[in-house]
Amino acid sequence: MPYHPEEALPAWFLGPRAENAELVERLVIEALRDHVFWRRNYHPEDGVGIREVDKRREGYEAAVATLTQELMGLLAALKRDIPFFSGRYKGHMVFEQTIASQIGYFAAMLYNPNNVAAEVSPVTTRLEVEVAGQLGRMIGYDPGTAWGHLTSGGTVANFEALWIARQVHYLPVAAAGAARDLGLPLEVALPTRAVARLDELPLWALVNIDNGAALDLWQALWASAPHADVGRALEAHSLSSAGYQDYTMRLAHTYGDPLQAAVVLVAATAHYSWEKIVRALGIGANQLVYLPVDASCRLDPAALWERLHMLALRRTPVLACVSVCGTTEESAVDRLDEVLAVRERARRELGVAFHLHSDACYGGYAAAVTWRADGARRTGAEIRATTDGVWPSDEWVRAMTALGDADSVTIDPHKLGYVPYPAGAFLLRDRRARELVAVDPPYLAPARAAPPGDDLFLGRSIFEGSKPGAAAAAVWLSHKVLPLDERGYGYLIERTAIGARRLHSALATSELGPFRAVVLPEPDINIVCFVVRHAAPTTLAAVNDLNEGIYRRMSLGHDGPAPEYIITRTRFRTPMYDGAIEPILAALDVGTVEEWRGNGREGLVVLRATVMDPVLAAPASGVDHVAGFVAALGRACAGALSEESHLG
Ligand SMILES: Cc1ncc(COP(=O)(O)O)c(C=O)c1O
Repeated sequence: MPYHPEEALPAWFLGPRAENAELVERLVIEALRDHVFWRRNYHPEDGVGIREVDKRREGYEAAVATLTQELMGLLAALKRDIPFFSGRYKGHMVFEQTIASQIGYFAAMLYNPNNVAAEVSPVTTRLEVEVAGQLGRMIGYDPGTAWGHLTSGGTVANFEALWIARQVHYLPVAAAGAARDLGLPLEVALPTRAVARLDELPLWALVNIDNGAALDLWQALWASAPHADVGRALEAHSLSSAGYQDYTMRLAHTYGDPLQAAVVLVAATAHYSWEKIVRALGIGANQLVYLPVDASCRLDPAALWERLHMLALRRTPVLACVSVCGTTEESAVDRLDEVLAVRERARRELGVAFHLHSDACYGGYAAAVTWRADGARRTGAEIRATTDGVWPSDEWVRAMTALGDADSVTIDPHKLGYVPYPAGAFLLRDRRARELVAVDPPYLAPARAAPPGDDLFLGRSIFEGSKPGAAAAAVWLSHKVLPLDERGYGYLIERTAIGARRLHSALATSELGPFRAVVLPEPDINIVCFVVRHAAPTTLAAVNDLNEGIYRRMSLGHDGPAPEYIITRTRFRTPMYDGAIEPILAALDVGTVEEWRGNGREGLVVLRATVMDPVLAAPASGVDHVAGFVAALGRACAGALSEESHLG
C-alpha cells in the first residue's frame, strides 16, 4: 500500500480536540470484546463464576456503586492533570501518545503479561525481543550480535549500561585470576593490537582491554576448562562477588598496585540519573567526571582528549564515557563520530580502552530520520529535501549514524517514541556482555551463542524482574503503524524539528515590547532554549529574576492564573557550561564569562520550550501556536516585570 506520511499523520494521535475519538472508541471496544470472547471460550465447561443472581444482591450493587462513584471522582481529579495533548504544552519531553501504542497497551493490559520470562508472557516477551531488534537496527547494530530489551525508563536503562560496562572493565582481571587458579596459559589482545600473555600483564593493562578483546578472552576461558571449574574460578575473582571494598584490597595485595579509582566521564549535559547510578553501583559520585560542552551544548571532543591524556598520565582507569544524543535540556546531539575518533586515538596513542555509551534516551528515535523506506540510509541532502532545507546538517547525520559504533545505547520509547510510560530500552552491541550480569546463576552460563528460546527469559540478564508486557505491545503496535524510517517516526520527528525551527526564528525576530528573547543556537532536534532580557541596563541577577518570573507565569503547579502556554526552565552553571554561555552573555550584555564564573553559584536561568507537537511545523487549521506562544510570552514578560517592580 502506498504510504503518504503527511496523510497518515492525522490518524496517528487522538488529537487536541479528540477528533479521532470514534476511531479510538471502536478499537478499545474491539480489544475488550475480543478479550471477553477469549475468556468465554476458555474451558467453557467450567461454568460461570459470577451468577446473575449474585449481581442482584445488595452487597454487589453497593460495590458497583462505590466503583462508579469513585471512578467519577478519579475522572474529575484527572482534569487537573497536564494537557500534554495540546499545542500549548511545551514543557517536558512528553506529548500525547500514538493511538497505536494506547490500543496496544490497553489490549495487552487486559491479559496482564509479565515480561520477566516467556513462561508468564509467551506473546509479549517475543514482541519485546522484536522491538528491541527494531531499535537496534535503527541505530545501526548488527542484529546477529546485538541484544536489547525494554526497561521501565531511561534511568534503569542507563543503569544497566554502566552495570555491564563495569563488569566488562574488570573482566580481564577476573579472567587473569581464574586462569592463574586453573593453570591456563591464555592470551589477550591489547589496545595496541599486540597480543600478550594474560599472566604477564600488570593491573593497568588488565583494566585497559577493549570490550571485544575482553569478551573474546572470556569465551576462550570457558572453552579451555570444564564449565564448573571456570564458573567457580571466575566467581572467586569477580568484582560482583567480592564487592568494591574487598576487591580493592585484594587487587592491591595481588598486584602491589595502588591503582586510582576508575572514573566515568560524562558530558556536562548528562541527565541526573548518572549521578544516581554511580552512587548506586558503588563507583562513587567523586568518580563521575563532567566534561565541558561547546556553544551548541555538545560534548567538546578536544576536552575529552585532554582529559583522557591527563588520566592516562595519572594512571586513572576510565570505566566508561557517556555521550548524549538529545540532551534533556537542549536536545543537543553530541558529535558521537568525533567522540569515537577520540577513543580510537586514545587506544592507539595512550593504550587506553573504555566502554563508550550513548545516552540517546531522548534523541534515539531521531535516528529514524536517517532511514529510507527501502532500508537504505538517507543522506543529509536527501533529508533536507523534505524539510525545506532547514534541518539537519551533514554533521548531525554523521553523529546519528555513529550510534551503531557505541558499545551500548539507551533509547526511551516513552519520550520521542510517543508511547505510554513505562518504556525505556537498553541496547547492547555485543550480546555476550549480558552474561556478565546474568543471575541464574552468575558466570556459570557457557560462552556460546544463545540457543533459540534462551532470549525469552529476560529476567536472568536484566536488572528488573516483573515488568509490563503491555509496554512491549504498545511499542510494537506503534512501530507497525509508524515504521522507524522516513514514513513513520522519521517523518514525525522531522516535523517537530521544523516546528522547533519556526519557533526559534520567531523568538529571535519578534518584537516583545521592551523585552528581547536571546535564543541559544538552533536545536539539534526540537527543544528551543532562550533567555529574555529587558531593554534597560541590567545585571545577571535581574535577568535571572525576570526569567524565573516568566517561568512562573508559564508553568503549572503554582498559585495564579492558568498559564496560556506551558514551558520549563533550567539553570546553566559554570564551569561546564562555559562554552555555551559565552555567546549568550554577550547577547544579553550582562558581563563577561569571567564575571559569570565568579558568580558561579547563581548560574543562568534558561527557558525551554519542547516541541513534540508535529503540527507546529505547518498548522493547517486552528490557532498557530508559534504566534500564540510569542504573544503569550510578551504578556508573561510584562507580568513578571510588574511583579518584580512590585516586589522591589
Ligand atoms: C538524556 C536522558 N537520559 C536519561 C533520562 C532518564 O529517563 P527516565 O526519566 O525515563 O528514567 C532522561 C529523562 O529525561 C534523559 O533526558
